[in-house]
Amino acid sequence: MQDSFIQAGKEQQLVPTTEPERQYYFMELLRRHNEKKSTELGRALTYHIETFGCQMNAKDSEKLAGILETAGYVPVDSEQADFVLYNTCTVRENANTKVYGRIGYLGNLKSKNPDMRIALCGCMMQEPHVIEKIKKSYRFVDIVFGTHNIYMLAELIWRRVSGQKQVFEILDGTSKIVEELPSEHKYRFKAGVNIMYGCNNFCSYCIVPYVRGRERSRKPEDILAEVKKLASEGIVEVMLLGQNVNSYGKTLDNPVSFAQLLREVEKVDGIERIRFMTSHPKDLSDELIEVMRDSKKICRHLHLPMQSGSTEILRQMNRKYTKEDYLRLVEKIKTAMPEISLTTDIIVGFPGETEENFKDTLDVVEKAGFDSAYTFLYSKRTGTPAAAMENQVPEDIAKERFNRLLALVSEQSAKLTAKHTGEVAEVLVEEQNEQDASLMTGRLSNNLLVHFPGDRSLIGKLVPVKLEECKGFYYIGALQQ
Ligand code: SAH
Ligand code: SF4
Ligand code: F3S
Repeated sequence: MQDSFIQAGKEQQLVPTTEPERQYYFMELLRRHNEKKSTELGRALTYHIETFGCQMNAKDSEKLAGILETAGYVPVDSEQADFVLYNTCTVRENANTKVYGRIGYLGNLKSKNPDMRIALCGCMMQEPHVIEKIKKSYRFVDIVFGTHNIYMLAELIWRRVSGQKQVFEILDGTSKIVEELPSEHKYRFKAGVNIMYGCNNFCSYCIVPYVRGRERSRKPEDILAEVKKLASEGIVEVMLLGQNVNSYGKTLDNPVSFAQLLREVEKVDGIERIRFMTSHPKDLSDELIEVMRDSKKICRHLHLPMQSGSTEILRQMNRKYTKEDYLRLVEKIKTAMPEISLTTDIIVGFPGETEENFKDTLDVVEKAGFDSAYTFLYSKRTGTPAAAMENQVPEDIAKERFNRLLALVSEQSAKLTAKHTGEVAEVLVEEQNEQDASLMTGRLSNNLLVHFPGDRSLIGKLVPVKLEECKGFYYIGALQQ
């Protein structure tokens, strides 16, 4: 029988032991199984992936979708599906709470459709206390895996299909990078490309190094092969992804710098725009600034998380730069590229933050000039050094500071955004406007959004648009002929 195929001793020998061959083997088994099931039901088997968190997770979800589609599932927009997967985030407590609420909702759906299969993966699943809670309180969950083995999805589903009641497969870490697996793209004109995984920085507030493991860079030849393939499929914009792209390549057998990698990506025909995320200020090199300045393709946007403007808090955060270092870096970047849009992340209410420390943050915001800033209330993450620090800031004080920061950031961002009024800029058209179908939405090199009258034939094209009216954080524009 098909379903017991893998358990039968003799056939076990047929299962490849190398990757990615092993996973293609399971995708094929599952595809045949699903085909049979779908004939019985008289309809296709469906899947839905809900993604929480950052671009890293979004990219992982594309890979997971690639595996599911190869295995014969078709995508649907709602959680009324045969296979539902939550790709979770745990960077802040509220990301976590959101997921628990939603898992409860999935339980209700499953009680109406017992054939439904529920899987959880992503950063939250790397935390032992989360796994305990799922084992105890969410028994209806079928499959749970972490961030290190997403490539195994077909194999894990196969185990469930073959009779295992609940499949838990969480690895503590990995040095393995499995290449050449299928991947779906959310957009047909832009795509994320992982250049590295994990993080070695251990900022004292941050859970990412614990749930994503040690820093591993992909080989430049693998990255370039992927970018070339994307270009041949019509992708014009790539976003190079890593928790700290500026330390790319340091651990490779033949070390390569991020700036050198960018030079190579720039040479790929068909790629018109290059973005990257995220840059840690401590590792941003002069070579990178030069490559950006001289590039025709690298977008005029740099996301440079500062986290705090206070040298003392930065030291407690283990960020390895001072207030002055950060301001000097901003000046260097703006001198080389005066038109660059600078964005940042800021945490308010880190343990021990005084009013004085907070004023340093406001001071850097005033001096640096951010086109936009993501502001976060400090969130205590179990297992991080900051969670054990004394003098946690009371919530009301943190909130009050947060509001003051937000007011300053918004005011500054509105001013900086408005200064482009009247300019004609090259825009990559992304989608039809959700509220008004007569408008198209596109993105400038500096990451600003513009809405302008147009039609869907423009999607994926680079077109000149006049920025006529600034509406706070976006523009209304007109297509230029
Ligand atoms: N690797 C990136 C950031 C990844 S997490 C970098 O170093 O810049 C994205 C953002 O979440 C961080 O920049 C930080 O501002 C915020 N963040 C991370 N941990 C947090 C916590 N415990 N509380 C509040 N914000 C946090
Ligand atoms: Fe977290 Fe710091 Fe690593 Fe960014 S660099 S992921 S903030 S530990
Ligand atoms: Fe969240 Fe994991 Fe990204 S914790 S922010 S999804 S790396």
